[in-house]
Amino acid sequence: MIGKKMQDAMNEQIKQELGSSYLYLSMAAYFQSSGLDGMARWMRAQTQEELVHAMKLFDHIEDRGGKVKLLALTQPTTEWASPLTAFQAAWKHEQFISSRIDNLVELAAEEKDHPAGILLQWFVTEQVEEEASVSKVVQLLERVGDSGNGLIMLDRELGARVFTPPTTADAAAQ
Ligand code: FEO
Repeated sequence: MIGKKMQDAMNEQIKQELGSSYLYLSMAAYFQSSGLDGMARWMRAQTQEELVHAMKLFDHIEDRGGKVKLLALTQPTTEWASPLTAFQAAWKHEQFISSRIDNLVELAAEEKDHPAGILLQWFVTEQVEEEASVSKVVQLLERVGDSGNGLIMLDRELGARVFTPPTTADAAAQ
């Protein structure tokens, strides 16, 4: 059975993951309206990734006899000055999420909550990947600078990203 402290902290993290999903969907809308369909597609895939993250926590609480409580989401930003600014904001956001995961890991240790600790290790690894993938795009956009052709080529490259839903084996490994 999950303890109340961990349950509340995970419910808060579900909100953060859904908030991330909402933010990236807002970025997808921004890119789409800017004619950057590849970047929009990249952000749509990221939106779906975040839903998977939220559901991992949702299932963990339910599986351990806890109660999922969905909290209110705040309205995400809708406009960015440039594609670079948007990806920089996404990178900063991922760093914020990583710090929240670190706090949850510490709480699991304090509470001697080993099942939560094991699940959270998955999130620790995932956050390394999340930060790396966004920072790579930031670097590429910095290199592209004001080159319109470079932006079009990068947009095409980012549009190749496809969301891969978790498999049953992934779910069993949680
Ligand atoms: Fe769920 Fe992008 O962190």
